[in-house]
Amino acid sequence: MTLATLQDLYRAELDDLYDAEQQIVAALPKLSAAAASSDLKAAFDKHLERSRIHIERLDVIFKKLGATRSGVRSAAMETLIREGDTRIQLATDPDTRDAALIAAAQHVEHYEMAGYGCARTYARQLNDEHAADLLQQTLDEEGSADHELTHIAEMGINQAARQGQTLDSQESSRLRYVDADDFEGETFDPSDIHVRSRKGEDLGHIDGFLVDETGRPVYFVVDSGGWFLGRHYLLPVGTAKRESAGERALVVDIDKHTFKRYPEFHKQGFMAMSNDEARRYEWRVLEAIDPNAARQRPAAAIVYEEYEYYRAPAWLGAGTTTGTDRDRGRTSAARGTQPATDTRREEGERPRPRKPGSDVR
Ligand SMILES: [Fe+2]
Repeated sequence: MTLATLQDLYRAELDDLYDAEQQIVAALPKLSAAAASSDLKAAFDKHLERSRIHIERLDVIFKKLGATRSGVRSAAMETLIREGDTRIQLATDPDTRDAALIAAAQHVEHYEMAGYGCARTYARQLNDEHAADLLQQTLDEEGSADHELTHIAEMGINQAARQGQTLDSQESSRLRYVDADDFEGETFDPSDIHVRSRKGEDLGHIDGFLVDETGRPVYFVVDSGGWFLGRHYLLPVGTAKRESAGERALVVDIDKHTFKRYPEFHKQGFMAMSNDEARRYEWRVLEAIDPNAARQRPAAAIVYEEYEYYRAPAWLGAGTTTGTDRDRGRTSAARGTQPATDTRREEGERPRPRKPGSDVR
């Protein structure tokens, strides 16, 4: 096969990714079986399911290209898996073996991320936006898997930290996840609330919230019910309208076409992100909703107060999250620690905005 054009290079990259994914699907059950940590096993099992979806997406792209796969073996992936396997075999201690498993998987993830990043760029340059979107979604998922592995590895470091070492936790995202069942609004019960577009499309139901350090909701986490690849996505709270007080549905001015540009949301992956990574992720959400607004500011300079999208509507009775932060194993800080929260709990009062211009993330 010669590589005369960018199209040839694109096809070669897709061929390599396709075989790499097949090798990963074959290897992941062995990695899962070798893992001692239940979190690590769960991460491998989840990634196995994801990898099957990645193959389906590649199938869609090949079909649209009208191309048959070359069947060429990805020698690079074969080597990465073999070298990882050698180290895993040599590790005699379960914790060390888990560390070796994480390292092997992260070498694989980074190879895939490089390949998907290149293929996504080629697709864009060849004006195939649909393929570029599919490849970007897979790239995001590979990135989330990588973050999750880092998070699992650092949990081990946390254990060491409890034995006397110091951890710098300043880098974690300032947003945290609150389950819909743990959300307590004055007038709004988020359970079983559906989301639909202005056109009447069913966009899923509210599954939870991302709240800031004061407990104020910034995003709805929506379970698409399956129409959205990756299933979950984020809606900035100001994008959803409630047309009547008794209605069990929210209406958004975002249609399914816009969601093609949208990044998937994975709770564990998001919570494993550093603050900078979370900001970049949020920037991508804003870019999907309002590309011009996003491109005027780098991710680090976006301030919630400057955009309607993040303004919590009065009906949300916002800022009153309760219960336990299940992801971090600590009690929500929202109640009892923020005087401003209590003063805005009077019915109908808008959540108190923070200081204009303050860097809220
Ligand atoms: Fe993959």
